[in-house]
This record gives sequence, structure tokens and C-alpha cells, in this order.
Amino acid sequence: MKVLSIINLKGGVAKTISSVNMAHILATVHGCKVLLIDNDKQGNASKILNRHSYDNKGTADVMTERGLNMAEIIQHTDYDGLDIITANMKLLTANLEVMLDQKRPQQTRFRKALEQVQKEYDYCIIDNAPDINISTINALVASTDVMVPITIDDFAIDGLAELKEQIDNTREDLNPDLKFCGCFITQYDRTNEADTQGAEYLQAQQYPVFKTLIRRTPKMKPSTFAREPIIDYSPRCGASADYKALVEEWLKM
Ligand SMILES: Nc1ncnc2c1ncn2[C@@H]1O[C@H](COP(=O)(O)OP(=O)(O)O)[C@@H](O)[C@H]1O
Ligand SMILES: [Mg+2]
Repeated sequence: MKVLSIINLKGGVAKTISSVNMAHILATVHGCKVLLIDNDKQGNASKILNRHSYDNKGTADVMTERGLNMAEIIQHTDYDGLDIITANMKLLTANLEVMLDQKRPQQTRFRKALEQVQKEYDYCIIDNAPDINISTINALVASTDVMVPITIDDFAIDGLAELKEQIDNTREDLNPDLKFCGCFITQYDRTNEADTQGAEYLQAQQYPVFKTLIRRTPKMKPSTFAREPIIDYSPRCGASADYKALVEEWLKM
């Protein structure tokens, strides 16, 4: 099972949109078995897939529960092959609880939990919070791959150096197989000079950048209100083609 963390210390860069849509494309276009983990207390990925709730077990329980049974945590979505571990505000207190509980290893809880379902899924995608906290560290420790969505603005690469350092430290200390696959540009508008120049600037930095650019589309926001992945909501929009291309580019790495 490949485990992909989608992460950036910034909000609003399309971490959630990318996680949900890449997971949905892997399941429905490529016919893979996919587990999506919502690792943000805001629970937006859970909401888009219509599984957000305050009663269900979810990522908070993966962090805190001893003798965890993943079958009680994982839920099916409305899409064949796509399952989810949901998040809600309970993840906030769960993270605090983990920080105070030094009797058990703190950074390997996701990894241990995912061992239970290693053979059941081809891919696991983790949608992370814009933060380095104990649950994002757990995600990096459990991951094989990391991708960083970036939206071009004046502060596009703020925090990237710190994030890259965290990835490198995680690789050195706990997860030698962790691969930084690269950044990818989201919400791209090729008619806007700031976007084209910003993309060139990013491509000239020392970080690897995916060739696929995810175009901005007015269909994206309504797709989230409709609780639908973009390739279902608007199959012909640029972002649908781009997310399919991005998944293929990642699979070919
Ligand atoms: N390709 C796109 N075109 C237009 N809007 C987008 C696109 N990708 C994301 N968005 C919008 O950007 C906002 C932030 O996306 P989101 O995935 O929630 O970011 P994050 O998880 O990084 O905070 C949302 O309102 C989303 O609808
Ligand atoms: Mg998000």
C-alpha cells in the first residue's frame, strides 16, 4: 500500500480538494482500493464525501485508542473502492491527549493502525491540517510519499523550507522510505500574468515541481456544496482533466 500525505503549512492551497479528488480518481478511474484519511479537525474531506459526524469514530480514535480495531473506524463512501476515516473537532483534544501520554509511542500511531489494513488497500491518501502537530507528524511517519499543493500568490512558498525540514527529519529519524515527490500548482490561471510568472519562479526553486498544473475553475466551489468530486460534478472542466493527469504523473514516478 502506498501512503500519500498531501500537506502544506498554509490553508486554502487545495490540500482537501486535491486529497478527495485524487482518492476518488484512483478508486473510480483506476479501479483501485483507496482509503482516505481526514487528518484535519475541520473535517472538510469528511464533509465533501458526506460522512462528517460528531458520533462516528474517526482519526481522533486512531490517535488515542488502545487495541484499536480499524474495521470500527473505517467507513465506506458512496463510491466503489473509496473508504474514509473521518475527522471532526475531537481531533483537537486527541492531539493534546497524545502529547500528554508518554507511556506509548506518540509518533507511530497512524503507522501501527495502517498495518492492520496494509493488504486491503492499494492506496491511502492523507489530507492534512495546515500545521506541524502530532497528527501531521503521525501522517508523515506513516507515509511513503508526500506532495505539496501550492497556490501562486505573493507568499506561495512561505513555510516550504520548514515543511521540507520536517519531512527530512522524519525520514532521518523514523521513516527512511519517505519520498518527497514534489510540489504541484493548484488554482492556476494561465491568463493571469502573476500566475504564469509565479509558476516559473516556483519551477526555478530547488524543489521538484509536478508538470501538471491544476487549473482554477468556477465549478470547484459549487462541487463542494454539492458534495461531489469534481470529475462527477463537472467532467469536462479543466480541473477534472488536470487531477486525472496529476494522478497519472504521480503513479508513473
Ligand atoms: N482548481 C480550483 N479551482 C477553483 N477553486 C478551487 C480549486 N481548488 C480549490 N479551490 C477552492 O479553494 C478553496 C480552498 O481549497 P481547500 O481544498 O479547502 O484548501 P485547503 O485544504 O488547503 O485549506 C476552496 O474554496 C476550494 O473550493
Ligand atoms: Mg483542508
